Amino acid sequence: MNFHSRKWVKPEDLNANLTLFGGSLLRWIDEEAAIYSIIQLGNERTVTKYMSEINFVSSARQGDIIEMGLEVVHWGTTSLTLKAVVRNVFTGENIITIDKIVMVSLDEDGNPKPHGYSSVSYKRDRVPHRLVTRRPKEPQALEATMDETHFGR
Ligand SMILES: CC(C)(COP(=O)(O)OP(=O)(O)OC[C@H]1O[C@@H](n2cnc3c(N)ncnc32)[C@H](O)[C@@H]1OP(=O)(O)O)[C@@H](O)C(=O)NCCC(=O)NCCS
Repeated sequence: MNFHSRKWVKPEDLNANLTLFGGSLLRWIDEEAAIYSIIQLGNERTVTKYMSEINFVSSARQGDIIEMGLEVVHWGTTSLTLKAVVRNVFTGENIITIDKIVMVSLDEDGNPKPHGYSSVSYKRDRVPHRLVTRRPKEPQALEATMDETHFGR
């Protein structure tokens, strides 16, 4: 299993027991699983369909760093099933395990769309492409350009 992202547990991520709030953790995992699946399935329209039983094994406190790991456990026709483990970097303990997160690739109409893949790629060859557009100039740069034009006259 590869551990991709790390998070720092901040005051806004705590529950009333002053440990990591489960809702924050699930939000991070869902985002991690979505990003992973988008890159593997080559489709930005990839959504979470199903999560199996979620087992909060231990917790984390403010200031702790956690890391999130994902592993593909099944390649379907339109779906990808992941296993997730989150662990506390400082204690080495697992915080949560989710055996199955099913992500589904969709078409423009929101219907499941076959992705055509059956193995993980590490080459980023499936990353959805965007046309590169020029960044607009910063406001100060624009002002400078206008001033130059003015003095040039
Ligand atoms: C994703 C969605 C289009 C799937 O619709 P559906 O009618 O279940 O589609 P299908 O029955 O064809 O299933 C699609 C895939 O999901 C899998 N799947 C569906 N329900 C599942 C479940 N309960 N457990 C595991 N896998 C499931 C199917 O096996 C299929 O995989 P495969 O093509 O690789 O074999 C639809 O349920 C939906 O839009 N859900 C909301 C998704 C969403 O908005 N998520 C964001 C979080 S709220």
